[in-house]
Amino acid sequence: MAARIASVNGAEHTAILGLGVYRPTRIVTNDEVAGPIDSSDEWIRTRSGIRTRRFAGKDETIISMSAAAARDAIEAAEIDAEQIDCVIVATSTWLLLTPAGAPQIATELGLNGVAAFDISAGCAGFCHALALASDLVKGGTARHVLVIGVEKLTDTFNPKDRGTAFLFADGAGAVVVGPSEEPGIGPTVWGSDGTQHHAIRQDKDWVQFFEEIEEKGLDAVRPYLAMEGTAVFRWAAHSLEKVCRDAIEVAGLTPDDLDAMVPHQANGRIIEIMARVLKLPEHCALANDIEETGNTSAASIPLAMEAMMRKGDAKPGGTALLIAFGAGLSYAAQVVTLPNFKS
Ligand code: UT7
Repeated sequence: MAARIASVNGAEHTAILGLGVYRPTRIVTNDEVAGPIDSSDEWIRTRSGIRTRRFAGKDETIISMSAAAARDAIEAAEIDAEQIDCVIVATSTWLLLTPAGAPQIATELGLNGVAAFDISAGCAGFCHALALASDLVKGGTARHVLVIGVEKLTDTFNPKDRGTAFLFADGAGAVVVGPSEEPGIGPTVWGSDGTQHHAIRQDKDWVQFFEEIEEKGLDAVRPYLAMEGTAVFRWAAHSLEKVCRDAIEVAGLTPDDLDAMVPHQANGRIIEIMARVLKLPEHCALANDIEETGNTSAASIPLAMEAMMRKGDAKPGGTALLIAFGAGLSYAAQVVTLPNFKS
């Protein structure tokens, strides 16, 4: 008879125990980004809902922004940092193919030795990482997981690209996921559509880059983030209502049970369309952090959660739908109980 391998059981329920964020210090107006793309404050406001965003300086790195957000998340969770045994970093702007950024972030936090890895699911990265964290705690592989969404998109878009330069921005958000008496993270509804892989992408890979240097010269060929904005807009407006409804249903709830909706802050108009088609009840607050923060990809949901609670639009303990979507194309959604936070 084959030897029997031992198995582990984890927590019956999980929750987000604490939330922290880092917003870069420099506030950038629409007028500042509009010049190089022949745009205007009015066009950017009406098409995207953005009024200002934050751009990170040289000393505001993926590591430093992540560590600052994580320290506040750990404090809000009221646990000792030593209780964290896994770090997951969702990002598309850690610009090394190897090694991942998470081990270095863990070490920076004094957590050298814990499991630490990055995931790449574009703007949907935070909700993917939250799903992994919750299941790791339920499965017994980890007890407390630090989930970080972080981006320095200013390193990746072309300031002269009309399709991206006004939209994307920088920042970090972190949460601690751990065991809970009551269910605080609902089942995740997620998926992807690889037929649309081109819709948000790095426009060339490293091999192509070096081939093109020889052909065209260095200045002409630097890889940049590229986006077919209208295609993504249409896909989001059409496909995500069902994802939201499914996430609410698998949590055993109805839209009336929601105190808040925290969509990925992609575009103010997409956020409004989603809220309208879902017929959210009047008491349900809608996160609209894009106005002051821009689109920070994998960092946008924790940043928007924090802004909402800081402004008093939602409270810790409230029930919120999270829905994230972007490059892949990929998406993930779950209903959560809003956590304690530190601003
Ligand atoms: O976060 C990951 C997921 N990403 C998203 O969900 C982004 C989804 N897409 C969007 O948010 C929108 O597509 C954008 C905000 C990026 C663009 O808005 P749009 O309404 O799709 O603009 P468009 O590209 O269809 O362009 C409309 C018009 C065009 O002019 P005409 O042909 O109507 O005369 C463009 O030439 O606006 C013009 N235009 C601009 N004008 C000023 C395009 N870009 C700009 C610009 N400034 N930056």
